[in-house]
Amino acid sequence: MTIRNIIIDTDPGQDDAVAILLALASPENVNLLGITAVAGNVPLALTEKNARIVCELAGRSDVKVFAGADAPIKHTLVTAEHVHGKTGLDGPKMDAPKMPLQDQHAVDYIIDTLRAEPAKTITLCPIGPLTNIALAFQKAPDIVERVQEIVLMGGAYFQVGNITPAAEFNIYVDPEAAEIVFKSGAPLVVMGLDVTHKALATAARVQAFRDMGTKVGDMVAAWTNFFERFDKEKYGSEGAPLHDPCTIAYLINPNLFTGRQINVEIETQSELTRGMTVADWWRVTDRPANAFFVGDLDADGFFALLTERLARL
Ligand code: RIB
Ligand code: CA
Repeated sequence: MTIRNIIIDTDPGQDDAVAILLALASPENVNLLGITAVAGNVPLALTEKNARIVCELAGRSDVKVFAGADAPIKHTLVTAEHVHGKTGLDGPKMDAPKMPLQDQHAVDYIIDTLRAEPAKTITLCPIGPLTNIALAFQKAPDIVERVQEIVLMGGAYFQVGNITPAAEFNIYVDPEAAEIVFKSGAPLVVMGLDVTHKALATAARVQAFRDMGTKVGDMVAAWTNFFERFDKEKYGSEGAPLHDPCTIAYLINPNLFTGRQINVEIETQSELTRGMTVADWWRVTDRPANAFFVGDLDADGFFALLTERLARL
């Protein structure tokens, strides 16, 4: 089993928090080199703070957390307090973090790390808007070919949009950044709403978090109980979709997921369909197959893995 060196680029958000915890609970699968925060679910001042809160919850105040872009490349920032609450981690009461934020800008950290480590040995896991990744690729085009893989949460095809009728939130917030990443040529694994809407934290699964009898289990149960209301009201879902942890679970056990290597392009011109991921699922074009687009997962297997790993913290 090879251990993946990863950088998580994130906008915590309760589901981001669970993804970070899953990574920290799985040292035999992933080596978390650092966390880069980006504006998304809530403004950057909160996403970088929340990333540090989650590291401290896992007892890992040694993890390096960097602040990155506080706004998308072109558009005005759109946030999602209506889903994640004012703090981004609403649900349980959280103490302010004591661990420091790193001085270096997240974009420079991504560039320096990819240049310093051997080529093709670092996986990027963006689980928020793709602004930091795109800015790094623009500032240092040489790093693109050094990336082992980008395993991202974003987009949708059959599920279409969750922030507009056409677009998923992470891509919608910064479609120009997404276009840069999707056209970069870096190997992509795309965990969109088609699969994450099947990763639902049902009452029984949330109870399994509570039954751990740990602070982590209680926090994850409280977070999922808080942010499930948006999807329950909108989709009639049986629980909160754990979007972001799907990326880390893929690195731990890719056999939990199925998908297709297809072309995915990003709509950036139309206001009506801004941020739509135009996925050629049926291969009706001869456009290059630039992404492994995930469509399904073994949900019971995913939650069994998640519960087993989180219980370690
Ligand atoms: O659309 C879901 C995505 O947007 C998730 O990454 C969630 O955390 C928000 O960033
Ligand atoms: Ca996120």
